Amino acid sequence: MQETAWWQHGVIYEVYPRSFQDSNGDGIGDLKGILQRLDYLVKLGVDALWITPFYPSPMADFGYDVADYCGIDPLFGTMQDFDQLLQGIHSRGLKLILDLVPNHTSDQHPWFLESRSSRDNPKRNWYLWRDEPNNWQSNFGGSGWEWDDVSGQYYYHSFLKQQPDLNWRNPLVRMAIFEAMRFWLDRGVDGFRVDVIWLMIKDDQFRDNPPNPSYRAGQPSSHRFLSVFNSDQPEVHGVVSEMRAVLDQYPDRVLIGEIYLPMPQLMAYYGEDLDGTQLPFNFQLLQTPWNTEALARAISEYHSALPAGAWPNWVLGNHDNARIATRVGAHRVRLAAMLLLSLPGTITLYYGDEIGMTNVFIPPEIVQDPAEKNEPGIGVGRDPERTPMPWDSSPLAGFTTGRPWLPLGDDHASLNVAKLDDVESILNLYRTLIALRKSHPVLVTGELRSVAAINNVLSYERHGEGERLRILLNLGDAPIPLESSIGEIIAATSPHCLSEQPNKLIQLGAAAGVIVRLRT
Ligand code: GLC
Ligand code: CA
Repeated sequence: MQETAWWQHGVIYEVYPRSFQDSNGDGIGDLKGILQRLDYLVKLGVDALWITPFYPSPMADFGYDVADYCGIDPLFGTMQDFDQLLQGIHSRGLKLILDLVPNHTSDQHPWFLESRSSRDNPKRNWYLWRDEPNNWQSNFGGSGWEWDDVSGQYYYHSFLKQQPDLNWRNPLVRMAIFEAMRFWLDRGVDGFRVDVIWLMIKDDQFRDNPPNPSYRAGQPSSHRFLSVFNSDQPEVHGVVSEMRAVLDQYPDRVLIGEIYLPMPQLMAYYGEDLDGTQLPFNFQLLQTPWNTEALARAISEYHSALPAGAWPNWVLGNHDNARIATRVGAHRVRLAAMLLLSLPGTITLYYGDEIGMTNVFIPPEIVQDPAEKNEPGIGVGRDPERTPMPWDSSPLAGFTTGRPWLPLGDDHASLNVAKLDDVESILNLYRTLIALRKSHPVLVTGELRSVAAINNVLSYERHGEGERLRILLNLGDAPIPLESSIGEIIAATSPHCLSEQPNKLIQLGAAAGVIVRLRT
């Protein structure tokens, strides 16, 4: 078997800690709660947890506004809880990836309090201060510039005004964040997912962005301009490779980048000579329309764009995008699982997708997400994909004994972990497919070949490790005949998706897929 690092052959599971498991009845998930559920993750077969921020924070953006990079917010527990969780993770042979948020801090971070205290404060140029705003927009709506009365200048924030952007051209800022990275690496964490890594450096002349010719009224205001000067600047790659160098002082760690960019720019985040992030998140499956041609094209293009030696990765869901079950329809979640788990490289799963959780409707009066509050009703809210994990059929689904911070889905009595324990469940399909990546390493390391879209069937082959597999995914609404003589079916989206016809022909059902081991 080809030698691979844990972050190459592993499956990463994203935990949104507020919604995973509450241990103290306040309705908000916490670190002790995650510890209680580790055995579930072991049984699922995943290899690593990525936990989104749990650092001290005013929670204006639910933890992505960090007020202390080296602490734990009391809402989530204590440093002792963290150490216990890390120990629990490692003792089960799992890895832990933390979320690093270096682009911005909370406006309550001591660095910013100092920076805004006066124009000649030594930390003034830790942030981006200007006499005049330019046209850069906040990703959460409106101008990205906020006037500060005390010191008489504007500061820039890519997100909320409570999230001022750090000045990454300042070497002291770099040193401070690298120190925070070492704090956690020394404690034993296995890597970082770096938040909005492509936004970290901005044009040093603060030039205005050009208007976006395809902007239409009703779209988020951040789409009014093309982010030419406030994102993906050439200098960012220097910062990324410095981060990587910090990481490389420790054995066997991983740096993952959150990057929403078109293919060529995305690939640049592997770094020159692969000295950037090991895994620039690949969001093709979040963004590609669900049809065979578009998917085949996205898969092929991604693979041909990979730089030599670069390790691929695939993501199906995260805490910023509608859930897969809602995007493609609940009857297609099995197909989506087979697609995801038969592609090369590292796989990242979003909590709850393995049980087919859907977006939950959040009535306006209980909206939590600041993105939705700032630009209501245009579909930018992220609460629907962040609702509590339903564990069992009890009234509060085993998530909490209190009042959940976001409502459980209406279907939680039937759609929950305990209910889905039978062999034919979606949860068990996930377990089977994850296990298959271990028993058939060709699924992880094998070459990707013959990607094709024929009518409603998406197909591709994986070659290597002494075998050849063909994956056939029927995206259509009608069954299709299957040439059963080509090999042995080693996985199917459901036991009933294959039917034998009177003429001995085998049919693959609608929204069903199989993995076939080809005869050699
Ligand atoms: C990233 C996070 C998102 C957050 C934003 C600002 O996109 O995934 O949840 O709101 O950065 O930190
Ligand atoms: Ca709690």
